[in-house]
Amino acid sequence: MSRDQKFFDMYSLVLGVLGAVTIAILVLAMKMSDLTQGVYTRDGAEYQQELASRIRPLGEVYLPGEERESQAPTVEAPAAAEPVATTLSGPQVYNTACIACHGNGIAGAPVTGEAAQWVERLAQGPEVLKQHALEGFTGSTGVMPPKGGRVGLSDAEVEAAVDYMTEQLQ
Ligand code: HEC
Repeated sequence: MSRDQKFFDMYSLVLGVLGAVTIAILVLAMKMSDLTQGVYTRDGAEYQQELASRIRPLGEVYLPGEERESQAPTVEAPAAAEPVATTLSGPQVYNTACIACHGNGIAGAPVTGEAAQWVERLAQGPEVLKQHALEGFTGSTGVMPPKGGRVGLSDAEVEAAVDYMTEQLQ
């Protein structure tokens, strides 16, 4: 036997063994993935759900009388915006609730900023002014409705507006 022949035989043997080992590893890996993935992945509820949604028919026919509401797309109604409870500042209240009368002296209201019309009123002190603004007041010139007619305003908001009005005199 020549040396070449010996080398060739040895070479084939090594190749054969390596090939057999490769195939054995492949088979073993497939077997293991079958055993493990089958149990942990493919049978999992999440995977099954995904699978079902991927292979579900594109369109479905609903005959009259058939109720398949659970599968019909539902449109969630947007949550109603929560009413935000905010406290209005003095100027904010004045400009929405008081300016209508006190801006120009409508209905006998003392005009904001006209010091002469406020001298006697200011002399009563801020507490009385606030009380009259909150509870309403009928004096010599007209009728001041409670909270200027905006009963939705809080006491603090109306009082802030009174402060704002009297500040305009200084
Ligand atoms: C519908 C018109 C009207 C609106 C709106 C109105 N007022 Fe008056 N207010 C009057 C009149 C009229 C008087 C004067 C009453 C009188 O002395 O005869 C008055 C008087 C006042 C007085 C003086 C009270 C006193 O003792 O002399 C204050 C303070 C006052 N208003 C605050 C307010 C505030 C604050 C608001 C807004 C929240 C407001 N008013 C909205 C008509 C109004």
